[in-house]
Amino acid sequence: MRQKRILTGDRTTGKLHLGHYVGSLQNRVRLQDKYETFILLADIQALTTHFKNPDLIKKSIYEVAIDNLSVGLDPNKITFVQQSRITSIAELTVFYSMFVTVNTLRHNPTTKTEAKHYGYDDLTYGFLGYPVSQAADITFCKADLVPVGEDQLPHMEQTRKIVRRFNELYGKGQEVLKEPDTLLSPTPRLVGLDGNSKMGKSLGNALYLSDTEREVVQKVQAAVTDPARIRVSDKGHPDICTVSQYHKALNNDEYEDICDRCKRANIGCVACKKRLAGCINTLLDPMREKRAYYENHLDEVKEFIINGSQKANRIGDATMDEVKAAMNIKL
Ligand code: TRP
Ligand code: SF4
Repeated sequence: MRQKRILTGDRTTGKLHLGHYVGSLQNRVRLQDKYETFILLADIQALTTHFKNPDLIKKSIYEVAIDNLSVGLDPNKITFVQQSRITSIAELTVFYSMFVTVNTLRHNPTTKTEAKHYGYDDLTYGFLGYPVSQAADITFCKADLVPVGEDQLPHMEQTRKIVRRFNELYGKGQEVLKEPDTLLSPTPRLVGLDGNSKMGKSLGNALYLSDTEREVVQKVQAAVTDPARIRVSDKGHPDICTVSQYHKALNNDEYEDICDRCKRANIGCVACKKRLAGCINTLLDPMREKRAYYENHLDEVKEFIINGSQKANRIGDATMDEVKAAMNIKL
């Protein structure tokens, strides 16, 4: 029996942060031993919002690949896939776009939230349709499982719907495309350092995996805490404090104790933050070492991406043969 295949990925719009690590990267590291793993560098999806900035996208392809490698994804186990190199993704996107209705796309909650951020008036055809392209990302290689965070659930439902519709339209009772299962991230998303619900680059509240020790210390020091706690002798409310949530996600062993001491005014915010910064730096240290290696060996990284994409294209081409045969457009 072949190993089940997973496909997941990131938009290449900038370096990855601790929120990515907690919400998905750490899980990927575990999954790579159990599944055949494809990591998509979603440069086309990045273009949907950054089409005026192709230079940034090229730089980010390397950054995102190195972020993934630095956390412990093993280039001998995983396959990197550069989205724009995969012809079957482009082809499937076009075929799916014939039967996906504009109305469904307009009502996708994740797209709607993102559109609010970028502005409704300038909504492009490509942006509105990116969930269709994401369905192509997942189906070109017939992925069995897709590990994602909660915000991606509408896209997964869309993908599953597309697969069912395709099979119904052209399958003649056969399952031409594989309906993927969703593997929801076991860890919730991390809040931003400013207490904002989401850590994000555009929000300026992120801790990057590539941050230096000093940057981590400085950013943690500036993080928002319980605003009612002014003096060390004030009792704190860890349930509303950003720093305590980071302890929970990254320093779970001490979490209960810290909350308890905070509530009794037995630990001050400065000390609490120092501890957190220490934990984060301990986590990032081995990653920094791997990162330094790959930053000095960009040719190797490029080769992983090109070889991986070639392998992906062979798989995608075979899928396209079956797809075109099912659609009866093969001469
Ligand atoms: N939309 C995903 C994100 O923003 C990235 C992505 C693109 C993706 N294609 C994918 C994730 C396919 C899983 C599977 O994080
Ligand atoms: Fe937050 Fe820690 Fe200060 Fe309590 S002691 S308010 S958990 S930073």
